[in-house]
Amino acid sequence: MRNYLLAFDQGTTSSRALLLDPDGNTIAVAQAEFRQIFPKPGWVEHDPNEIWSTQSGVAAEVVNRANVDLNQIAAIGITNQRETAIVWDRRTGQPIYNAIVWQDRRTAGMCDRMKAEGLEQTVQERTGLVIDAYFSGTKVAWILDNVDGARAKAERGELAFGTVDSWLIWRLTGGRIHVTDETNASRTMLFNIHTREWDDEMLGHLRVPRSMLPEVKSSSEVYGEAVGTLAGVPIAGIAGDQQSALFGQMCHEPGMVKNTYGTGCFMLMNTGKEAVPSRNKLLTTIGWRRGGETHYALEGSIFIAGAVVQWLRDGLKVIRSSAEVEALASSVPDSGDVYLVPAFAGLGAPHWDPYARGAVVGMTRGTTDAHLARAALEGIAFQVVDILRAMEADAGISLKELRVDGGASNNNLLMQFQADLLGIPVIRPANTETTGLGSAFLAGLAVGHYKSVDDVRTLWKADRVFEPAMSADAREVRYSRWRKALDHARSWVD
Ligand code: G3P
Repeated sequence: MRNYLLAFDQGTTSSRALLLDPDGNTIAVAQAEFRQIFPKPGWVEHDPNEIWSTQSGVAAEVVNRANVDLNQIAAIGITNQRETAIVWDRRTGQPIYNAIVWQDRRTAGMCDRMKAEGLEQTVQERTGLVIDAYFSGTKVAWILDNVDGARAKAERGELAFGTVDSWLIWRLTGGRIHVTDETNASRTMLFNIHTREWDDEMLGHLRVPRSMLPEVKSSSEVYGEAVGTLAGVPIAGIAGDQQSALFGQMCHEPGMVKNTYGTGCFMLMNTGKEAVPSRNKLLTTIGWRRGGETHYALEGSIFIAGAVVQWLRDGLKVIRSSAEVEALASSVPDSGDVYLVPAFAGLGAPHWDPYARGAVVGMTRGTTDAHLARAALEGIAFQVVDILRAMEADAGISLKELRVDGGASNNNLLMQFQADLLGIPVIRPANTETTGLGSAFLAGLAVGHYKSVDDVRTLWKADRVFEPAMSADAREVRYSRWRKALDHARSWVD
């Protein structure tokens, strides 16, 4: 009987796979890191073949480890790092360039030109986005302009473009299926989130031929069957990782908000069937499409969150593993008035400054690695306050609570400081793998493994609630210092 679910969670720094038993328990998890390629300052690439080999490897590993037969797996759900752009040759199936990762800033100049042409309003009205190098559209244009012969090949229909979901499905189905879902399409700057179709005007501005694009599907339906090691298993769910986490956190009602602390940090608010335009530089994006209905969300995207902990580990070498950061930061009572703005990849929402770079201010002779570690964690939490304030202004409501997930949500010091700064309870679920769970639920709903969303809602349980304990005055003092520190990071490079 087909009653297990397999989730692919293809993230920025690692590929993960989760296997869920018939009761929705995660019975096996496997993870593989892959190379981060930095050819120049501000450039970030991945090898698409490594994305595939690590992802297919961890999927095979969880299935073997749990000793489950392929014909017991009801469906595969796919969730992925978003915006990262891959272009491949349809005939050979080989990428023509590395994947250009969402963090990559090489197209900032192209974005400046689009702004100078007065396209900001058009882009926001059609795609819900701001003009920024973050999104896939300018990355595809860069590949077409910079890889020898690429544009001519694309014009002849010989190349395919896809975000990571499309690439994985192409590989999983042996090159038979070229699809994406609305959540991923809504991150390309090429997709009209109201008509829910690729937008000819945006394709024209970015000079991307329509023939390269995947077919856009819902987030929960059977797209096809896998071949190879997972032969015969239906692929039935796709969602960008942040939208998948929104679904997995059971934020199914308008007004509900989740925040995921991964490589970056992404806060999404469900706005129901209404695409709410932002007046505070947040993004309007598609939350999911299921059962013939599209749900929209407001999003605040922070580019560096957990990645600052990796930097403490790999760059500064003040910790040996990411888990050590909490003990080091807890060894001092506060940051000693040191502020760290982790603008290593520019600043995302609500600042949108591709030329910002990281800054540390307030150091004295007494500053230690522990103060830096604490300031790094606090820098994550301060960025979240910037987003929450913009989101409350856009939605016209005050948030009552924040659901959190992702790797760094396991850091109690960070979560307590987050609650203190926001002045609202921060709720962490028992299973913080909500990104993978969301796509598994979307897939399970598509194949009838779950009858309705009410069935999946019973699978969410709170683990710990962090109550705010800082006075409003202390909060405002700290926040105004943060805003001063931010000014040092802005527009650093030209
Ligand atoms: O928009 C980028 C986001 O999808 C990346 O997520 O979890 O890999 O940091 P993550």
